[in-house]
Amino acid sequence: EKERTLGIIKPDGLSGNYTNRIKQVILESGFEISKEMVIQLDEQDAANFYAEHSSKIFFTDLIRYMTSGPVLVMILEKEDAVAHWRNLIGPTDAGKAKITHPHSIRAMCGIDLEKNCIHGSDSHQSAEREIAFFFKEAPSDEAVRKH
Ligand code: CMP
Repeated sequence: EKERTLGIIKPDGLSGNYTNRIKQVILESGFEISKEMVIQLDEQDAANFYAEHSSKIFFTDLIRYMTSGPVLVMILEKEDAVAHWRNLIGPTDAGKAKITHPHSIRAMCGIDLEKNCIHGSDSHQSAEREIAFFFKEAPSDEAVRKH
């Protein structure tokens, strides 16, 4: 079944001019990019988006990183999009990805555990929440009829 997930090219990916190469990999891997936008997150946006990490020691650095420049947010569609996208971006630590997953997107454009250049939703539920966070869609006609 077709599924949606959220991809974000993080500030280091955008400023490093990896956008076209990343999009090429996305399309070659059978994803459709159904919506996209470039946005500069402020601290409050980033803190809300990463609320689940608010107690982590890397939280302050993460917020600084994600607000250091614009990001490119994309809705990606494919069968089993969440799992396929996680697989394509590779492990969180981009430094390790270069060794263990050399064909992954993080190996291509990331640097280390923090500056890993790209985001992928970790579950179907996260994907829907994250898509709603960035793209405040009007409810579908069907959803309106049911309520
Ligand atoms: P991601 O897994 O997409 O979401 C959380 C982000 O926090 C992660 O990518 C990194 O960019 C960043 N981060 C920084 N330090 C760490 C760490 N020690 N463990 C996990 N994520 C980290």
